Amino acid sequence: RRPRVVLGIESSCDDTGAAVVDEHGRVLGEALHSQKEEHLRTGGIIPHVAQALHRQHIARIVQEALEKSGLRASDLSAVATTVKPGLALSLSVGLEFTGTLLQGLPTPFIPVHHMEAHALTVRMVRPLPFPFLVLLVSGGHALLALARGVSDFLLLGQALDEAPGDSLDKIARRLSLAGHPECRAMGGGQAVEHLALQGDRLKFNLRTPMGRHLDCNFSFAGLRTQVERTIARLEQEEGVRDGQVLSCVADVCAAAQHAVCAHIAKRTHRAILFCKARSLLPERSPTLVVSGGVASNRYARQLLQVISDASGLELLCPPPRLCTDNGAMVAWNGIERLREGIGILPSPAGIRYQPKATF
Ligand code: KG4
Ligand code: ZN
Repeated sequence: RRPRVVLGIESSCDDTGAAVVDEHGRVLGEALHSQKEEHLRTGGIIPHVAQALHRQHIARIVQEALEKSGLRASDLSAVATTVKPGLALSLSVGLEFTGTLLQGLPTPFIPVHHMEAHALTVRMVRPLPFPFLVLLVSGGHALLALARGVSDFLLLGQALDEAPGDSLDKIARRLSLAGHPECRAMGGGQAVEHLALQGDRLKFNLRTPMGRHLDCNFSFAGLRTQVERTIARLEQEEGVRDGQVLSCVADVCAAAQHAVCAHIAKRTHRAILFCKARSLLPERSPTLVVSGGVASNRYARQLLQVISDASGLELLCPPPRLCTDNGAMVAWNGIERLREGIGILPSPAGIRYQPKATF
């Protein structure tokens, strides 16, 4: 039998990604177009702009991934495409393109859940058995779940308002970090992390949210408002106007980063305690997998390492290129489903995308 190979297509948000992955988790070819710079200019994602950019790039990206793999569409075991959750206009582009690509071919189609794909990516690089705990923190989501199988997730908590990366991006914009000489070409979260290294987080007292909520959900909007109020107060004190940088910008970044990361770590700790109390994690090598763009924050990793060590869990972070949105994680989800024989369809005909899907 020839090894299985799957083409994965991702277009749920602002990245157009494609990759060909085999059943050993080897990436045979991949390509990615990120719209981040375009959206940075407009101050956020405008859905119809995202859709136009996906349309502009998807054919080239898929072709590039296929060419690098040396395979043709007819050589593939299946094509897997993200169909939920995400921006409706963005999801539609990936699904429609898949329809065109597979027209007239006998190749099966595998619809993919974006969050499940993120959660299983770690198994591409390491044979981690189920069950394990997953924390996903990015610009679009915050989520804690117990992964019990390829398509079996127990949702433990999620963001009730905005995602942590989104909050950090908004704070960075409010602080005009894009114009800061030390932060050129950095994303919002990355700029906050960089400046926080030089700051004193104890200069400002920010409350971590949801201290009394006995669940594992997240809330970052109130935290962001606290930071924005602090910035407004400081601007008045220093006589700083819009677009100018505060003298204590590093301290604000340090305090904001600490508050966001401490909240993430505390909710994760609750999830660990919950799983332990119900014996939901294996006794031998229980594992916490952390993924998403915010997972590349070193301060967040340090806090998560502390709670993992204290609870006897191993902390696993997939490499950064697999942590952010990409085609390989979608292809890998296709491989996992092929192996188990679940969710494999003869074609994408009649499949609809679901912007608001949960687990
Ligand atoms: O996973 P990702 O690339 O895209 C999605 O959101 O789907 O995550 C991007 C988010 C952005 O909000 C970015 O500011 C944040 O992750 N991020 C970081 C860091 N690097 C990226 N946040 C904090 N610290 C970082 N080093
Ligand atoms: Zn994502």
